[in-house]
Amino acid sequence: MLKSDYFTTHPISGALGAEISGLDLSMPLNAAVFEQLHQALIEYKVLFFRDQDLTPEQHIAFGRMFGEPMEDEFVKEMDAHPELIELLQEADDSGYNFGGTWHSDSTYREQPPMGVALYARELPPFGGDTTWTNMELVYSSLSKGMQTLLDPLKAEHVAQGYREKMSIIKGDYTKSFNKEDIVVRNVSHPVVRKHPVSGNKSLYINEAYALRFSGMTEDESKPLIDYLCRFAIQPHFTCRFRWLPGSLALWDNRNTMHFAIGDYFGHRRLMHRYTIQGDTPVGLVEVANNG
Ligand code: SIN
Repeated sequence: MLKSDYFTTHPISGALGAEISGLDLSMPLNAAVFEQLHQALIEYKVLFFRDQDLTPEQHIAFGRMFGEPMEDEFVKEMDAHPELIELLQEADDSGYNFGGTWHSDSTYREQPPMGVALYARELPPFGGDTTWTNMELVYSSLSKGMQTLLDPLKAEHVAQGYREKMSIIKGDYTKSFNKEDIVVRNVSHPVVRKHPVSGNKSLYINEAYALRFSGMTEDESKPLIDYLCRFAIQPHFTCRFRWLPGSLALWDNRNTMHFAIGDYFGHRRLMHRYTIQGDTPVGLVEVANNG
């Protein structure tokens, strides 16, 4: 477990996630504190901070320590703070729940986000928790035979599912999905991803965007993709966070998936999100070929 001179780390589950106490994120972090916090992020994959009182500028400054802001292709940035997007669920919204599917963010992009700093501004009196799953633990829990099968594979990721949902229930959730021209791309990524910092291997596939294995049909791919996505969300791979106003979650999007639980109908929830630019996922085979 990480020992820090500057903050205390309290793991919230055996799989991933830790609450960090002793830091005020409204103040700039010096290089030594940042270094240990970054190490904690690599170790725990999602960090939670309580009782933070942040202006949008302070939230952005914190996010920027981890990387440049990344534009979201579905959600319009805030007019006053283009580095942030607003995730808003109104009390009278029905139907769609933003983030209510197990996913890693924007894997349909060539360079999906490295991570996210999500800050809670207004919360329902109950519900609205978010859950994460540790895709390194998931990969290491697969049989050797399955790992060997998956190691050289790539999968194609598309945002098509979101576009279809938009046309079906448009109006219910245009407050969140509010960009006019959505680019639907199709990119392929390794199914087993090597973490650029730790070198750890994680399963890199998700039900929101992974359509098929490269070189296979959707029908051929679906049973295994479905199996892996079900396998990945077993409770012992996950953690669950109860938000309170002023909570901030910082997650590594390269080796986790998350799911926002939409169980607070009739109540408002407002989150501000800073998305951190990521790099091109690297798989095991490319690493072997290049090295
Ligand atoms: C998301 O980024 O997928 C939404 C997370 C949340 O609102 O809890």
